[in-house]
Amino acid sequence: MKTVVDRLRTERTLPVEELRALLTHCDAETLEYINRQAREVAQAHFGNNVYIRGLIEVSNCCRNDCYYCGIRKSNRKVARYRLSKESILGCCEEGYQLGFRTFVMQGGEDAAFSDEQLLEIVEAIRSRYPDCAITLSLGEKSRQTYERLFRAGANRYLLRHETYNAAHYEQLHPGKMSWENRIQCLRTLKEIGFQTGTGIMVGSPGQTIEHLIADVQFIEELQPQMIGIGPFLPHHDTPFATMPAGNMERTLLLLSIFRLMHPTALIPSTTALATLAPGGRERGILAGANVVMPNLSPREERKKYELYNNKASLGAEAAEGLQLLDKQLAAIGYRISKDRGDFNP
Ligand code: 5AD
Repeated sequence: MKTVVDRLRTERTLPVEELRALLTHCDAETLEYINRQAREVAQAHFGNNVYIRGLIEVSNCCRNDCYYCGIRKSNRKVARYRLSKESILGCCEEGYQLGFRTFVMQGGEDAAFSDEQLLEIVEAIRSRYPDCAITLSLGEKSRQTYERLFRAGANRYLLRHETYNAAHYEQLHPGKMSWENRIQCLRTLKEIGFQTGTGIMVGSPGQTIEHLIADVQFIEELQPQMIGIGPFLPHHDTPFATMPAGNMERTLLLLSIFRLMHPTALIPSTTALATLAPGGRERGILAGANVVMPNLSPREERKKYELYNNKASLGAEAAEGLQLLDKQLAAIGYRISKDRGDFNP
């Protein structure tokens, strides 16, 4: 299997049979080998720098009902909140003081957040923090809205495709949501000029090796600037409450595959990976990830943005825990970079 990994590193792609073999027969030794190759490729481009993004969870209201997600519309137990413009700007101020130069506004698909309100917020952040990147992660919107947000000063957009298999997409999402629209949104975002991120949950219910192959090939075709990969984790008040969590080894394998195929991509070591097991965040970095996204949301709302059980939002996951994060990274030979960390081909 090492020759397959070596080929992936030099050619940045694999014939489908070899990709299938790697996904099917990756033993502990192969995993360690591919993680090391991926780490070397990341270090060649980024040194020992890990970029930080301040995550602001702007609303947990959502019109969608994704079967895996804790803040799905049907979950009546969620205490819903929506941050005001002032509160969001307060988060940015705190984040700026801490050294963040990217703000990520993430939220459910909340119709009560009008385009006008969002534009006003983006414009305000843009004028107060001209040196910062603004990332949006607010789901599917019309091309016109995406264009307006881009013109207002947003630079990046995160929208995981979740799965490239349309039938699998339907196993994860109710019929109201469309796989075609999801994929079209991603193409539109790229065309408009957003640095675009996509990705999947590893081990989502019903996911097969063939689905993962299709995901890898789609990402190869789309060439996103950012790739978000984390394990599926069950949430107790969803239809998937009793489904098993995604597996650490498979998540690390996919992180490394994406790093070897996309040497300059920005790849976070996700909160879900840090939540899956102690040391998960560090293992993600050591598998080729180069971004972490500490939580900048107001303390009193964090527990309400529970996408899955036990979602970490304290300690090194929290923006105010940056020193702890830096210590944890130093222990594995990395450091926090306070640069904007734009995509650089
Ligand atoms: N487990 C892991 N990741 C999840 N997400 C949503 N729910 C879960 C879950 N239960 C991920 C989705 C979404 C991103 C914001 O969070 O991939 O795109």
